Amino acid sequence: MRNFVFHNPTKIIFGQGQTPCIGPETAAYGRKALLLFGQNSARKHGILKQVTESLEAVGLEWVECGGIKSNPILGFVYAVLELWRREKPDVIVAVGGGSVIDTAKAIAAGACYPGDVWDFFCRKAVVTQAIPITTVLTLAASASEMNCGGVITNEKNQQKYNLMGSPLYPKVSILDPVNTLTVPRNYSMYGAVDAIIHLLEGYFNGGDRRSPLQDRLVEGLIITIMEAAGRIFRRPQDYTARAELMWCATLGLNGLTTAGIGGAEFPMHMMEHALSAIYDIPHGAGLSIISPAWMKYAGRKSPAKFAQFSRRVFNLDKGSLTATARAGIKAWEQWLARIKVPVRLAEVDIPKSDIGKIAQNAYGLARVWGMKHYSVKIISKILNLAV
Ligand code: NZQ
Ligand code: ZN
Repeated sequence: MRNFVFHNPTKIIFGQGQTPCIGPETAAYGRKALLLFGQNSARKHGILKQVTESLEAVGLEWVECGGIKSNPILGFVYAVLELWRREKPDVIVAVGGGSVIDTAKAIAAGACYPGDVWDFFCRKAVVTQAIPITTVLTLAASASEMNCGGVITNEKNQQKYNLMGSPLYPKVSILDPVNTLTVPRNYSMYGAVDAIIHLLEGYFNGGDRRSPLQDRLVEGLIITIMEAAGRIFRRPQDYTARAELMWCATLGLNGLTTAGIGGAEFPMHMMEHALSAIYDIPHGAGLSIISPAWMKYAGRKSPAKFAQFSRRVFNLDKGSLTATARAGIKAWEQWLARIKVPVRLAEVDIPKSDIGKIAQNAYGLARVWGMKHYSVKIISKILNLAV
């Protein structure tokens, strides 16, 4: 195991009926809140009402700011920063999924920075200060509720990049699985795929080849996510399955499973961000298309870990490493098809002729993430496996 520091300051309040905790918990950080939410669901399903009643009960003022779209955009962040300068809230309450929470993080950092908030996404500036954030999570996927990263698309140049910095950890996140019961089946499955790929990026790309404890944490979380997703697919109102998926997804990208593995590249995310930036497809759908293709490419180069994935997650053993690895990748792709998420570019109407453009876009992010060995040529080769 490599040296590591594990410090996750986010307080998690988990469980049925916990949403009203948001008021008292937020009151510890400010007196006037910027209340961020998505386009429709938080209000439609009564989550917003629970939140505002809770804020009111502790005497908090708030400024409502809804309309955040999935795959959130920089233009919205700029507009809210204008609002910020007029209204001067001192805390942000984010009610939604990763798109709302990530928008909150961009605003929280931008409000404390004299320059262009996009500087953080291009690594031209470092986040050293941020407005405190509390969250009510309504979709299990991104783990943004318990990490210090955020993803925004610069819609002008179609770049979907991330910012990160320890001041961006939410102070408190309320994980009330009841709030996810209304997530449509497709987005529930996209969320499960996203959580699994968060785990697999470190599992397959960790710097330390020997990480038995981390591997078993990842394998156990993946098996649980797949089981829970299967139950939600059949019965979306299954509270226990929603609760298990919610907690697994949060653990999928909060630093726990990558501790001690010596850092890890995120190649599947690097390529997926290009798809979401250019075509605005759901992040989890992009990953269900990219992941089998990347696995086929990477599995050929280093079959051992893919064979372990095949044996431990799918209980498959075909004798040789290569055959076992290949069987596991096939089983992964078959599982994706069973939960009705796309596994080919054609399924989301992305033509093979666009591969050059997608690869160029992805390579731009590969450079920011220090993954220049993923050349345009290699990215194109991988994308051709997803046609
Ligand atoms: O806008 P509304 O009406 O709320 O609809 C949303 C949206 O259309 C809907 N939804 C959310 N909660 C719901 C609900 N519908 C019914 N009932 C509810 N309770 O679901 C749709 C998707 O919401 P979104 O927030 O976009 O989904 P998710 O949580 O998967 O977030 C995706 C974003 O997270 C980023 C992705 O890039 C993408 O932009 N990620 C953030 C990461 C991070 N901060 O660490 C890491 C991830 O890899 C990911 O990149
Ligand atoms: Zn993701």
